[in-house]
Amino acid sequence: MATMRLDKFLGITGCASRSEAKKIIRSGGVSVNGRVASSADQKIDPENDSVIFCGNSVVYRKYTYILMNKPEGVVSATEDGRDRTVLDLLPTEMRKNDLFPCGRLDKNTFGLMLITDNGALAHRLLAPKTHVEKEYYFRAKFPISEDDVRCFEAGVTLEDGYETKPAKIVLDETGAAGKITLIEGKYHQIKRMLEALNNKIIYLERIRFGNLTLDASMARGEWRYLTEEEISVLESHGQK
Ligand code: URA
Repeated sequence: MATMRLDKFLGITGCASRSEAKKIIRSGGVSVNGRVASSADQKIDPENDSVIFCGNSVVYRKYTYILMNKPEGVVSATEDGRDRTVLDLLPTEMRKNDLFPCGRLDKNTFGLMLITDNGALAHRLLAPKTHVEKEYYFRAKFPISEDDVRCFEAGVTLEDGYETKPAKIVLDETGAAGKITLIEGKYHQIKRMLEALNNKIIYLERIRFGNLTLDASMARGEWRYLTEEEISVLESHGQK
């Protein structure tokens, strides 16, 4: 593998922003193969060199995995001529890393967005036959009847004739809000499912994608790297 600058390596592995990394290198907080690093532009081999950052060994991963709490008004695209994208919420140094959102949320939908540069995994997670569960918290304009619940569970016919796969719906005590779990991801799917039942979504937030759940402590627009455990479960999705 090609070599890379030490500050970049510390940035993409999530240790620190590149400017923080530079300061910490200057103060002697980083060592490479047992020797204290003295300059941020020192070249390292990410796969073979041993880097210690503030006393901790840095694990290099070929791919980056980010979980973001998407705010309203931001589009899940890599670029957009008009609106801010989920990538615009990441620090500048991370935007050059071929990252893209894995799947779509509407501009006015909140919640869990996976962002990665692992195209093969994203393709597998989004493939219809993989059936990754996506769970949403929703609020609807009108209460959902028992018949509607049965329709959700059996599959709803959308306005274009598409029959949705069985979905789960659990209502709260108001009867007009709750959780919906889908195993597919058609364009505006939940909004269209409710419209097919003469109802309307007034709030939608994704709270789970496969094994990934939205952290209650994470503010809108905040993000974090996935943990090693989350990555290994995610990578096993759709594998024989
Ligand atoms: N269904 C929708 O209608 N919108 C989303 O953003 C996600 C699921």
